[in-house]
This record gives sequence, structure tokens and C-alpha cells, in this order.
Amino acid sequence: MNTAAANPGELAGKHLVIGMTGGIACYKIAELTRLLTKAGATVQVVMTEAATQFITPVTMQALSGRPVYTSQWDARMPNNMAHIDLSRGADAIVIAPASTDFLAKLAHGFADGLLSTLCVARDCPLLVVPAMNRQMWNNPATQRNVAQLSADGIETLGPDSGPQACGEVGDGRMLEPEAVYEAIVSFFAPKVLAQRRVLITAGPTFEPLDPVRGITNRSSGKMGFALARAAQQAGADVHLVAGPVTLETPWGVYREDVQTAQQMYDAVMRAVPDYDVFIGVAAVADWRVDHIATQKIKKTAEGRVPGFTFVENPDILASVARLPHPPYCVGFAAESGDLDVHAEQKRVRKNVPLLIGNLGPQTFGLDDNEVVLFEAAGSTKLPRAAKQALAQTLIAEIARRLPDQSIIS
Ligand code: C5P
Repeated sequence: MNTAAANPGELAGKHLVIGMTGGIACYKIAELTRLLTKAGATVQVVMTEAATQFITPVTMQALSGRPVYTSQWDARMPNNMAHIDLSRGADAIVIAPASTDFLAKLAHGFADGLLSTLCVARDCPLLVVPAMNRQMWNNPATQRNVAQLSADGIETLGPDSGPQACGEVGDGRMLEPEAVYEAIVSFFAPKVLAQRRVLITAGPTFEPLDPVRGITNRSSGKMGFALARAAQQAGADVHLVAGPVTLETPWGVYREDVQTAQQMYDAVMRAVPDYDVFIGVAAVADWRVDHIATQKIKKTAEGRVPGFTFVENPDILASVARLPHPPYCVGFAAESGDLDVHAEQKRVRKNVPLLIGNLGPQTFGLDDNEVVLFEAAGSTKLPRAAKQALAQTLIAEIARRLPDQSIIS
């Protein structure tokens, strides 16, 4: 699965009811529960009798840190109101895995067990994560039920396509726990970029010298990837153009990998007419050699060192900002000193409304960052924060500054 792991605290204060129904995918819920609790959510697990055939309530209790409920007649509930009490105060109920039978029950409003009754009696959003054999998923009755759930405002996550426990291949596989986790985080994120299309560059570039060597820099890509994830969670359609990095693609983000500055420029220029916002986070190499050796450059007996002539790479951000109808452009600048002077000069020179500066190279590869926003009206320093939390703040700051949607073509 291509996705980021849970970030501590990003679901702090959220209370989730995880409803498990019968299916082999129950084992994935152990990992999902771990991810949710690691992110700070409280998790109340409710299982159908069938679910307990696949994984024990003891396992789910240990992972969630709370007693697991399976029956409406549980003596631990003094008022016998488990079907009401367990979902009160919940921010969402997530049915995972959701079996064929349970989708049918939900679509028809059945209340014949603790979990189905809890769903009918809920006063919070309901998400379902189907898991079933491909024939069961494609059955017209299942498809009718899923359409009915959508019409009732119930969100369906997945299913995936691929190999199934029964040995067949097709639609119906439950999403991996990391993908369900990402979808839950997205579900709660304010949709400040709904209907927006955001193009982001991230990471370093690699400028070859010969077939095995090249020039690159220490950018890890973490900030750009964190922004792509935050923009996706904020409801945007995100296209990420990434230099060579070892990071996993954020869930729901379209990624295009490139190596050189010229390739990054070409990819951005091809895509940019379709985007409302361009965020240049990549640490793009300023120069490349004018001639890349076709064979590996060899040491000579005389100890002659090779010489290179450099040519300037295109400035991607400045080129986008110069377009006749540019998207809203945001630049990043890592400076090694005099941030206020250099960053503001850079903003004016590249003609972008917003430039995010940091006292840079020392933040490369770190998980946190401290930045200053530079714009015509002045500068604003943001407190030091983890890159993912900072990315959410920056996305909110960018969203606030976007021109009214109605005047974007
Ligand atoms: O490298 P520099 O400090 O000029 O980078 C500032 C901003 O310009 C960053 O947003 C970076 O992504 C962008 N940039 C670019 N193309 C370049 C150099 C920088 O888009 N060739």
C-alpha cells in the first residue's frame, strides 16, 4: 500500500466506533485499530457474532484498550441501552469489514443485533468499508444496496481490486488498513480546498554527469509530500510531481516521478493549465552540465580531473507565475541566513503572491519545520511544528488567500 503511516495526534479527541462484521478481512482491523489509537483516537469496537469467528474480542480489546461489545443483552450495560450508549458522543461509526449481509441490513434499516441497531440509532456519520468475494460485490442486490447507502448519506470506502481470500481475483477486497486510516483522517479534515486542483513539486532533482554519476541535493521531499497529503485531505484534486525520493505516495494523490529539473519543468508545464494552485516545494537544481558524458568518466593515469561547463535550468516557479493566466503560485525558499531579506526579494523576483521561507538547509530531512510567510502585506512567522501538522496549517493559509472560486476559469 502506498501511503503514509499514522501521525501521532492527528485524530486526537476523535471518538470512533469500529463495527466489525463477518469476513476474513477482520484481521486487517487489528492493524487499523492500532493506527487509529496511535493517532490519538479512542476506539470502541463492536463485533457481530460472525466477526468473532474470525478474530477474538480479546485481541480487539487489547488493541483498542476498551471492552468489546457483541450483544445487545450484555450485562455490563446497566441500563441495557448498549445500542444507544455506545454511539453517543461518537464522531463516526466505521463498519469494517462490512459484509454483504450487513450492507443489506443497513440499506433496509434492519435492527436485529447490537451493531445494526447501533447504526439505526446513531446520531453521527456512518462509513462502510466493504469486504467480500467479487461475485458477491458485483451481485445486483449488493450494488443496489450500496447505491441506497450512498443516497442515505453513508460513505463507502473502497473496495479494492486484486487477489481475494477465496483465490479469485477481482473487485471486493477490503482496502488495506493504512488506506482506511487515510480515508478516515480525510473524512474529518475541513474541506477548505473542495473543488480545487493543486499541482505540487517536491523533492530534489538529479542532474546526471555521466551514466552513473550526478548532482543532487539533500531535500527529502517530506514537506512537499506532507502538503500533497494535506491538500488531498482538504478536498483538492492533487497532482504531485516528485524528484527522486524514497517516500510513499499520499493516499488519493496522483504522482508523477521525474529526475531532472528539465523533466520537472516539462511535467509542470504540461499539467499546469488544468490547475488552480501551484505550490513549488521542490529543491530544483539551478544548473546542469551542458554535455552529459555517454560513457562513465574514467580516472586517467596522469590524474587529470574532469572539467564541466554548466548551463542554467529553467526556473519552474517563475515560469508558471509568468503564464498569461497563472494559477495561484506559492514558492518555498530555504535560506542559510538573512531570511527576511532574501525570501522577500525572491518572492518579488519570482512574482508570486506567497513565498514560504525557512532557515533552511538544516531542516532537510527533519520531521519538523519552522516557517515564515512572505507576502506583499508583510511577513508572518508560524510556530515550529511537525511537517504534517505544518502542512495542514499552510494549506489552510493558502486556501484563505485563494481568489473567489467563481472567478477561476
Ligand atoms: O532555489 P530557490 O531558492 O530559488 O527556490 C525558491 C522557489 O523556486 C521554490 O519554490 C522552488 O521550488 C522554486 N524553483 C523552481 N525552479 C528552479 C528553482 C527554484 O521552481 N529552477
